[in-house]
Amino acid sequence: MNILIVGGGGREHAIAAALAKSPKVDKLYCAPGNGGISALAECFPVKATDIDGMVELAKKVNPDYVFVAPDDPLVMGMVDRMEAEGFKTFGPRANAAILEGSKSFSKGLMKKYGIPTAAYEVFTDEDKAIEYIKSQNSYPAVIKADGLALGKGVIIAKDFEEAKAAVHSMLVDGKFGKSGSEIVIEEFMDGTEVTVLAFTDGKSVKPMISSMDHKRAYDNDEGLNTGGMGTIAPNPLYTPEIATECMEKIFIPTIKAMSAEGRPFKGCLYFGLMLTSKGAKVVEYNCRFGDPETQVVLPLLETDLAEIMEAITEERLGGLDIKWSDKSCACVVMASGGYPEKYETGKPISGLDEKGQTAGAYVYHAGTKLEGGKYLTAGGRVLGITATGDRLESALDSAYKAVEGIDFEKAHYRTDIGKKAL
Ligand code: AMP
Ligand code: GLY
Repeated sequence: MNILIVGGGGREHAIAAALAKSPKVDKLYCAPGNGGISALAECFPVKATDIDGMVELAKKVNPDYVFVAPDDPLVMGMVDRMEAEGFKTFGPRANAAILEGSKSFSKGLMKKYGIPTAAYEVFTDEDKAIEYIKSQNSYPAVIKADGLALGKGVIIAKDFEEAKAAVHSMLVDGKFGKSGSEIVIEEFMDGTEVTVLAFTDGKSVKPMISSMDHKRAYDNDEGLNTGGMGTIAPNPLYTPEIATECMEKIFIPTIKAMSAEGRPFKGCLYFGLMLTSKGAKVVEYNCRFGDPETQVVLPLLETDLAEIMEAITEERLGGLDIKWSDKSCACVVMASGGYPEKYETGKPISGLDEKGQTAGAYVYHAGTKLEGGKYLTAGGRVLGITATGDRLESALDSAYKAVEGIDFEKAHYRTDIGKKAL
């Protein structure tokens, strides 16, 4: 099989590495890819959101499969377009990707089908939204832009003034453009967050190993929300009992609900869960693999990813036995200083070999480029240094040891990844 992977971050590097191990896979292509991915796949400078450009590229390289990894092209309907051109494609169609593309859609679905989530209301009018916040009089208040906003469209307001300002910034100032012209205001859920990625062919659902993301920029969960500063898998707080509860009350009901709505979801569905004192609840759905969750989940997958993709396309996932390693995996993200706000790029990275790797860990490249044989920073999140171990401690030790050997100007990383799980 030849496979074209759409995307160019750490997640896509992890997907490429998993597919490169498959005996079924001959050649990998990636667009746009990055410096590290180019060691595994032939990369083409086509933006992930350029649907026409990507279809043109697919026609040129004629892959047996297209793997659409990022949220934007999925929500924009890249899978629908690829399928219309006759390409087998991994990922949900637009009518199912809406589960991530519109929070008012996903909240409505959960309400209709009794899937546990925070209580909420949807608003387009500032006065009504502020009236609602006053009537609830409960803080922190959670205010979310309806559409995609690079993981930054959620504001947890600690008091009325902050909540009012958040509503104003989205509905009046247009902070997130069209994504924020409709907002969801919801109840704050107290608890621990767990990510569960799940394979689904629209009929059955097979959860992967659980993971824990670290969304804030600095240690002790301080600083701004980011795309994710590090991950561990499995998440020890996600016990077998909780897994059974989630399967019965969240995973199966979601897959059934989407099918009942005429929107069968095929691909990887991301369940962002909050373990509250009243049970597990959905924080959010994403229509794709998580980043950097994928970097710690796929290294533990023992079944061939290409085989799983085929089973999903052919809707026979239910009959496939998916095997996982019982090891642990940890990923520490090295980011450009200043991320998630302003940061510089183009800094030479030291400590990587010619394949962009280092001894003792696997380096997933997120924002790098290869220029004249040298790796340079090219994004906010730059590298995800990843290691497996028999236990979480040893995985973390190996990852952090490797981090010490890698450097670039103003590199920043959290020193407490996985600490809560030890
Ligand atoms: P989302 O983009 O919906 O995942 O939200 C981003 C982050 O905001 C989540 O990972 C949580 O940490 C936090 N968050 C979102 N909704 C809630 C909520 N209702 N209660 C508490 N925290 C939340
Ligand atoms: N790490 C969070 C996400 O992929 O959305």
